[in-house]
Amino acid sequence: MKKRIAVLPGDGIGPEVIKGALQVLDGVATRFGHEFETIEQVFGGAAIDQEGNPLPDSTLKTCNDSDAVLLGAVGGPKWDQGKVRPEQGLLALRKAMNVFANVRPVHVYPGLEHLSPLKSNKVKGADFVFVRELTGGIYFSEPKERNEKRAVDTMSYTREEITRIVEKAYELASSRRRKVTSVDKANVLETSKLWREVVEDVAKKYPNIETEHLLVDYAAMRMISNPTSFDVVVTENMFGDILSDEASVLTGSLGMMPSASLSENGPGLYEPIHGSAPDIAGSGKANPIGMILSVAMMLRHSFQLEKEAEAVELAVFETLQAGYRTGDIYGGSGTLVSTKEMVNQIHFRMLEDSTSAT
Ligand code: NAD
Ligand code: IPM
Ligand code: MN
Repeated sequence: MKKRIAVLPGDGIGPEVIKGALQVLDGVATRFGHEFETIEQVFGGAAIDQEGNPLPDSTLKTCNDSDAVLLGAVGGPKWDQGKVRPEQGLLALRKAMNVFANVRPVHVYPGLEHLSPLKSNKVKGADFVFVRELTGGIYFSEPKERNEKRAVDTMSYTREEITRIVEKAYELASSRRRKVTSVDKANVLETSKLWREVVEDVAKKYPNIETEHLLVDYAAMRMISNPTSFDVVVTENMFGDILSDEASVLTGSLGMMPSASLSENGPGLYEPIHGSAPDIAGSGKANPIGMILSVAMMLRHSFQLEKEAEAVELAVFETLQAGYRTGDIYGGSGTLVSTKEMVNQIHFRMLEDSTSAT
C-alpha cells in the first residue's frame, strides 16, 4: 500500500523534528513492508522568505492531494514584525483543509511520572484527550480589525460548528472511559451558552457517557490538581490551545505532545503541539517525541495502521524507560542526548522489536 504524505518542516526546530519523524517513518516502512512517498513543501516563515506567502498555492495543493500531512512548526522572531506572519499560513492551512477536530492526547507513561515537574502521585495514571475545535471561534470570526485607537477580535460559533466537534468528542469517549468534560465560560460568554446547550443535546444520544461542564478557569486548575479526573475534554479553539500547553507539563514537557487535526473525510494534518522553539533552534536540543508520536497518530487515524502506530509508541516508551532524555525532560539522571541521538534510539528500538518478536 503506497501512501502519499506532504511534509512541511516549517521553521525553527520544525525541520529538526521532521527529520527525526521521517527517519522513524522509514523504520516503519522497513519493518512492516510499506511504501510511503513523502513530498516536502515550503511553509511558514521559510515560505515567506522564498515566496512572500506562508502558504504558497503549490504547498496547499500538495497537501490537498496527499493522504496525510506532517507538519513541524512555524514562526520565529525574524517574522514577528512582518506584514504577514508564518502563523497566518498555519491557520489558513487548517481552514483550507477543514480540519476542525484537533485531537491532543495527554498520556503520562507508567513508571515515567518523574518526568513531570509536578508531584508523581498527582500525575500518575493521567490519560486524557483534548478535542479542540480548530477552525472557528476567536481565531477566525469576523470582524477582526485594528486601527490606531482600537482593536477587535470576535468570537462566534454556529450550532453546526459546535455540534460536529462535540459529536467527535462523544464518539471518542465511546471507545475510551466514557466521560466527556466540556470546558466553556458559560457564566460570561454567549458562545459558551450555546456551546453548553449543544453539548446537552448531543449528550442525550449517548446515555452511557457521563457528561460534565466545567468553567475554563476551574478546568485549568483541576487539570493540574486532579488530572486523572479527565477522559475526553472538548472545548473551543482558544481554550483548547491554552489548556493543552498547560497539560503538557503533566507529561514532562511541551516537546512530548502530538496532535492530529481531522476533517470529515479529507486528509489529516499531524503536528506536535509545540512551536518553533526559537530559543533552542539549531542547537540539537529539541525533543522529537511529540513529532514522532504525531507520526503514530497519522498511521492510526489516516492509514488505519494500528499495529504500526503501536510499534512507534512502544519504541518511544522503551527509549524513555531506557533512560534517554533530551534536555527538556532531563532531571539530572539518565542519559542526556541530542535530538539526533534520541531519534536514533527510537528508530533502533522500532527495528529491534521486530527481530525480537520473530
Ligand atoms: P514554543 O512551543 O515554540 O516554545 C515554548 C518553550 O517550550 C520554549 O522554551 C521551547 O524551547 C520549549 N519547547 C518547545 N518545543 C520543544 C521541544 N520539542 N523540545 C524541547 N523544548 C521545546 O512556544 P513560543 O516560544 O511561545 O513560540 C515560538 C514560535 O512558535 C512563535 O512564533 C509561535 O507563534 C510559534 N508557534 C507555532 C506553533 C505551530 O507551528 N504549531 C505552535 C506554537 C507556537
Ligand atoms: C498551536 C499553536 C497555534 C494555535 C498558533 C501558532 C497559531 O499555538 O498549534 O497550538 O494557536 O493554534
Ligand atoms: Mn498552541
